[in-house]
Parts: sequence; structure tokens; C-alpha cells
Amino acid sequence: MTSPAQAQTSGAGTAHPEHLGHVIFITAAAAMGGFLFGYDSSVINGAVEAIRDRYDIGSATLAQVIAVALIGCAIGAATAGRIADRVGRIRVMQIAAVLFTVSAIGSAVPFSLYDLAFWRIVGGVAIGMASVIGPAYIAEVAPPAYRGRLGSFQQAAIVVGIAVSQLVNWGILNAAGGDQRGKLLGLEAWQLMLGVMVVPAVLYGLLSFAIPESPRYLISVGKHERARKILEEVEGKNVDLDTRVREIETAMHSEEKSRFKDLLGGSFFFKPIVWVGIGLSVFQQFVGINVAFYYSATLWQSVGVDPADSFFYSFTTSIINIVGTVIAMIFVDRIGRRPLAIIGSSGMVIGLALEAWAFSFDLVDGKLPATQGWVALVAAHMFVLFFALSWGVVVWVMLGEMFPNRIRAAALGVAAAAQWIANWAITASFPSLAEWNLSTTYMIYTFFAALSIPFVLKFVKETKGKALEEMG
Ligand code: GLC
Repeated sequence: MTSPAQAQTSGAGTAHPEHLGHVIFITAAAAMGGFLFGYDSSVINGAVEAIRDRYDIGSATLAQVIAVALIGCAIGAATAGRIADRVGRIRVMQIAAVLFTVSAIGSAVPFSLYDLAFWRIVGGVAIGMASVIGPAYIAEVAPPAYRGRLGSFQQAAIVVGIAVSQLVNWGILNAAGGDQRGKLLGLEAWQLMLGVMVVPAVLYGLLSFAIPESPRYLISVGKHERARKILEEVEGKNVDLDTRVREIETAMHSEEKSRFKDLLGGSFFFKPIVWVGIGLSVFQQFVGINVAFYYSATLWQSVGVDPADSFFYSFTTSIINIVGTVIAMIFVDRIGRRPLAIIGSSGMVIGLALEAWAFSFDLVDGKLPATQGWVALVAAHMFVLFFALSWGVVVWVMLGEMFPNRIRAAALGVAAAAQWIANWAITASFPSLAEWNLSTTYMIYTFFAALSIPFVLKFVKETKGKALEEMG
């Protein structure tokens, strides 16, 4: 529903339902990049033991082989915006699809450990690109009144990607007799797990041919006629197209491209708005969300779950993650991004603090006492639920829409790269921190979740219902 305050002067934001169907298709196709993002970053979990065994490496080396992909992600995120401004949004999707495909094949049949790490980095670059181009493109084609909901398709696709990779890995593992190195279709189970990604990767590439280029990109390269046609396709005939084109043009100072140097300004190197984007990214990761996904088996085992059943519990976390995302999709355009973020942070503080409490008790035979074990289990699910209904969706939606047109692509790239670096910092430090003191580790995450509340209140502006041209 569009409230009067959301309706734009030129009629944007009041998309006709028949156009909305088309916009949903376009959004879902672009969000395939999000699916691959979730799938690729979590698929490795099913393969780690086999990789350790085959290459005969210790935990530290293994952690590096896993974390190295995140560096590729930062590179992909930092460069995608610039490439998108040169060659268009759709081309970036196609480049990412090719990288996903070759990385899936390369990592499935690596010659050596270095070769495997190399292909994981290539996949990382593709993930980084997809993490930027999805939100940017969706924000650019979505009518303002639905932009939050459509933008949250990206996060929905990410969480479904995580869940599907867990299911596929489980299916392959079972078919291979429960052994990650068991043979199946001429490959070892873990190779097949990594290789299966070829399917969504190729589909992503094909879908990118079925969707239109972003009108804002077309206007920036002077293709006004095509931009008008696409605006009409997505926003409907009621919209005053000339005014829309002019609004976009004025907002982006026509021929200028977004460059890194346009992000600089103010007394702290970057413009304040860029810092807000970086802050959103860093807080999203510093609450420790990916510890819940990448290291879930460790958590379940310490609360007494049999290693063989840990898949089941990791999968319940994924389902909770999907449920939370759907809740966020319903509310993001109704109550807005800021209130959702604050509700989410409050819930995460409670969940994380409870985990810190539970893990402050001594483990007996590697397990928590029964009550604390249950508390840890429930608290971990509560944490994921509150993350999913808030920061998971809100950050990717806001990064796609909060920057002024002229710096959007570059600013989103910097903020997303910061997010991948923050993800890497948390993921790589967790094993040592956990060994040192798990309870304190959760306290650190609790601290960041709490700090995110004043951060949002003071620095984050609501973007609900505003046209992209009004951001600044
Ligand atoms: C967000 C985060 C990502 C995380 C996911 C979990 O997309 O950016 O790092 O894995 O949520 O649902």
C-alpha cells in the first residue's frame, strides 16, 4: 500500500499490479546472485573434513583455505560498482555468473591445495560482485513504495541459498554412505558438493539475459529512449516519464560516473554517508552472525548434540533464518528500516547475552550442564531469528538505496567490501577466541549488538518510501 507520504510527485511508487508481477520476476532473477552468495559461502562447510583429510593439513591451514574466499569477496565487492558504471549492471551479473561457473568446476576438480584456494578466491570475487550488484540493481528498478520488500529478495535468496546448500550437502553425503570422501558419479562426495553449484550459476547467467538494463545506468550513458521504455515497463503508464527521466538525470548530474574520489570529503576521509554505510556493514558482521552459520556444528556438540545430528540443528537455524527474513519482508516497507533494526538489535542483545551466560559454565566431558545447554540452544535460535528479521534484510536493502545516485555504485562497493573484511575478521578470529574464552567472545558480540542501537538512532536516516533521487 502506498501512503500519501510515499507517493512521489511524478507518480513513481504507485506501480500497477500487472507491472508489479514483471518487477517481481526481474527482482527474483537479479536475486539469483544472492542465492549463489548464500550457497557458495556455506557449501564449503560440508567439504572441510574431506579437504583436511585429502591434503593432510592442520586446522590453521584449513581455516585459511576457507577464509581466503572472503578476501576474494572483498575484491569483488570493491570492483563491481566501477565495472557496473562502465559496462552496465547486467554485464556485471554475467561476469559474476561466469566466475561462479568456472570456480565451481575448478574447486570440484582441483590439482592441489593451492589450486583449490585459487578457485575459492575466484568464487569469492563472484560472491562479492553479486553482493553489490543485486541490491544496487534492485533498488534502481524497484518502484519506491515496494523497494524495501523487493530489496529484501536479495537477503531472502541468500538465506534460501544457505539452506539449500545444507540440504544438497546432506543429500550427497547420504548417497555417498556418510563419507565426505565416498565415491559418487565418479567424484568424491565433497567434490560433487562444490561442483553442483554449476547449476544455479548457469541459471543466473541465463536469467540475466531475460531482464532489462537499469534505467538509471541507461540514462547515465545517454540512452534515454531505452531508459524511458524500461521505466514504463516497471513503473507503469500512469507515471510521468519525462519528469522521471529528468529527475534521475538531475540527480546524477548526467554524464558523471561514480568514482572513488567522489566518496571523499568531510574531516574523516570519506563523506559521512559513506561511513554510515560502512558502519551498517561492520555492525551486521560484528554481532557474530556467521559464527552461527560457519561454526554451528561446534556449538551443537558442546550442548550435547551427537555430531551425526548436528546437520539437523544447523538446518533448523537456517529455517529460523528464512522465517525471520519473511517477517522482515512483510514489515520493512510498513514500519521502516530503522525501527526494524532497533527491534532486531534488542533481541540479539538478549540472545547473545544468554549465550555468554550459558558458556560461562564449565564444560563437563566437553558438554555444558543440561539447563545451560538448553539455554544456549534456544538463545542461538533467538539470536538468528532477531538478526534475520532485522539486520540481515535491512542492511542489504539500505546499502542499495541510501546513497545519492551519483555515488551509489562506488559507495555500495566500499561498504560491501568493508562487510566482507569484517566477516573475515570475525570468522578467522572465532576459533582462537573460542579457545581462549567462549563466554567472553559472546560478550564481545553482545557489546556490538548493543552499540548498534545508538549508532542507528544517531546516524541512520529512514529511507522508507523515498525516491532514490531524494537520497543524500
Ligand atoms: C547477511 C549477511 C551474511 C550472512 C547472512 C545470514 O546476508 O551479510 O554475511 O551470512 O546474512 O543470513
